Amino acid sequence: MHSRRALLYMPGDDWNKINKAITLNVDSICMDMEDGTALNRKTYARATIAKALSELPFGKSEKLARINAVGSGFEKDDIEMVLPCQPDGIVIPKIETLAQIQWASEIIETAELSNGWALNSIRILVGVETAKGIINLKEIASHPRLDGLIFGAEDFAANIGATRSRAAWEVMYARSAVVTHAAAFDLQAIDMVFIDFRDTLNLKIEAAMGAAMGFTGKQIIHPSQVGPVQEAFTPSEQDITYAKRVVETFEAHQAEGTGAYELDGKMIDMPLVKNAQKVLERAKAAGKN
Ligand code: COA
Ligand code: MG
Repeated sequence: MHSRRALLYMPGDDWNKINKAITLNVDSICMDMEDGTALNRKTYARATIAKALSELPFGKSEKLARINAVGSGFEKDDIEMVLPCQPDGIVIPKIETLAQIQWASEIIETAELSNGWALNSIRILVGVETAKGIINLKEIASHPRLDGLIFGAEDFAANIGATRSRAAWEVMYARSAVVTHAAAFDLQAIDMVFIDFRDTLNLKIEAAMGAAMGFTGKQIIHPSQVGPVQEAFTPSEQDITYAKRVVETFEAHQAEGTGAYELDGKMIDMPLVKNAQKVLERAKAAGKN
């Protein structure tokens, strides 16, 4: 699975921002046809994204296109315009049912077959950002073409009538539900956008909290957010060294017939070892260790 510590959006009709994005070494670039694009620019955005996919060098950055919500009336033209240019994945916002993912997956499968591309090579990520989406997470997360669940805090708050706050307690249940379902179905979990894009200090705090909750990455909206967010979702040298010590000392104790033991004043047993293994997996996915 592609590493998606930072997933950068830009309006799909903005050629300059797409050209900027490919210079940033960001994990994922998501060209948006939904709410980042004005109503009277949808057609132009589709054509601009198609051109970018065909002509621009994305390097190691993943190429994603976000279509409008299924049922909006725009989604069919959106997906049909960009698919022939072979994006790495399609992002579907405001997902509420499994059937909506099946609709997109069938169109993608037809494109894969007719172009001779590997089956299931074009992945789907879904935005879960409404009350219906949250209560249907169990069916939504089960689709085999999915790589990840994306939590949209602003849309979710608007949907339930909550007022957003820095501490984000008003979205905590939904945010936790997304990360829990992602883990249950072995999917990536991508945290909410921090919209105050000039406030790096609080961006770092929110990103660290998302990482601590178990999210594997975060949505971003500005170049200044790439570095801090990719760092927050990459285990530090200190984390990696400690995780390696936990795994090594655990194996030594197991060999001696001891399940629980002490390391630096803390009790270590199986769950802590599993957590250490996750840290090492994430470090490896980020190209470290
Ligand atoms: N992707 C790529 N480049 C971006 C970018 C983005 N998301 N946001 C800003 N940039 C570029 C600007 O074009 C500018 O480039 P330049 O120096 O070559 O002129 C540079 O980064 C600095 O931008 P800045 O002037 O600080 O911001 P702005 O006023 O141009 O844009 C926003 C502010 C919020 C409008 C812009 O960041 C944006 O459009 N973000 C994405 C919005 C979006 O897609 N929303 C839907 C999903 S939530
Ligand atoms: Mg949105």
